[in-house]
Amino acid sequence: MAKYRIAWMPGDGVGNDVMDCARLVLDKLALDAEYISADIGWEFWRTEGEALPERTIKILGETDCALFGAITSKPKEEAEAELDAALKGQGLVYFSPIVRLRQLLNLHTNLRPSKAYPGNPLNYRDDIDIVIFRENTEGMYSGVEFYPLPQEVYDALSANHPKMAKFGKFGLENIALSTRIMTRQGCENIVRQAFDYARKFGRKSVTVVDKPNILRETGGLMIRTAREVAKNYPGIELWETNIDAQCMWLVKNPQIYEVLVAENMFGDILSDLAAQLVGGLGFACAANIGDEYALFEPTHGSAPKYAGQYKVNPTAMILTVKMMLDWLGETGMAGRLEEAVAEVIAAGQVRTYDVGGSNTSTEVAEAVVARL
Ligand code: IPM
Ligand code: MG
Repeated sequence: MAKYRIAWMPGDGVGNDVMDCARLVLDKLALDAEYISADIGWEFWRTEGEALPERTIKILGETDCALFGAITSKPKEEAEAELDAALKGQGLVYFSPIVRLRQLLNLHTNLRPSKAYPGNPLNYRDDIDIVIFRENTEGMYSGVEFYPLPQEVYDALSANHPKMAKFGKFGLENIALSTRIMTRQGCENIVRQAFDYARKFGRKSVTVVDKPNILRETGGLMIRTAREVAKNYPGIELWETNIDAQCMWLVKNPQIYEVLVAENMFGDILSDLAAQLVGGLGFACAANIGDEYALFEPTHGSAPKYAGQYKVNPTAMILTVKMMLDWLGETGMAGRLEEAVAEVIAAGQVRTYDVGGSNTSTEVAEAVVARL
């Protein structure tokens, strides 16, 4: 029996292209693993009315971790319109399967490194090395939303908050409400992960990013919790910033930031911005980590227009494989893989279109394999 069982989920669009690249490097590294294919994505939504079938959840329960390509997400009405005729009108509602998986498997920590590999012409600067800890199961992604606003919800809010009164005149059918639910436990966990990481890798600061001057309750909870947690980590400074200013500073002085920690939505925004500083989504890897299970996925989406063309940059996916190897404890392999990727970038001979080259995804992966 293989040492590891890994769920293999290409998902939508270019997910398949980049997962083929992942397989090339994993086979070269000869990781002792069995890969179990699992269905997920738009095709299963259209034909079965379920983007995340039960059989896939079962496979996840029987594996050590999952490797995931990309997913297509569309707003509610558009999703309904694409259902097979037989499934329409049954009240099926599309939810992003990746967001569901994060919650279902309690993958509370989304770890997103943005590191500049020298030689990448898309780098803002070559000395950027930022790691983002994004809370992954609550906050603005809690999924507790209403439209139209139910009378009971309106009444309860009005009875408990004076600011609600001014909305009544618009009519409940014209009011949409999305909630940002944050728990002390959720805040504490993500901040702790960030500090543990800083301590382990010798980083000197952790920056907690929110907007406590406006989002006084949720943002306030995050900042106060961060201050508490920080007390346990002498020698590591806690920096506190607002999300808007932090976006500006990441463009102005990205090299001074080491570890950023944020609520789900702010982390989502920060991680796209940070990714662009080091070459864009073609270089942005990510890990969704829980207590016992983890799911590894590049930050990029499914780019449907490039699907099957083996055109997109597989570096994000290959670095995602590196994160998986680290999590599995195969740190030697992870290190060799990262070195090979860094060498290919530095040599600058084999590049996909986003980096100004004309090589295919597969050629980039093969160049990494050759260095290994
Ligand atoms: C990400 C993506 C997802 C998110 C989408 C695809 C649901 O943007 O992983 O950052 O919003 O979390
Ligand atoms: Mg995102």
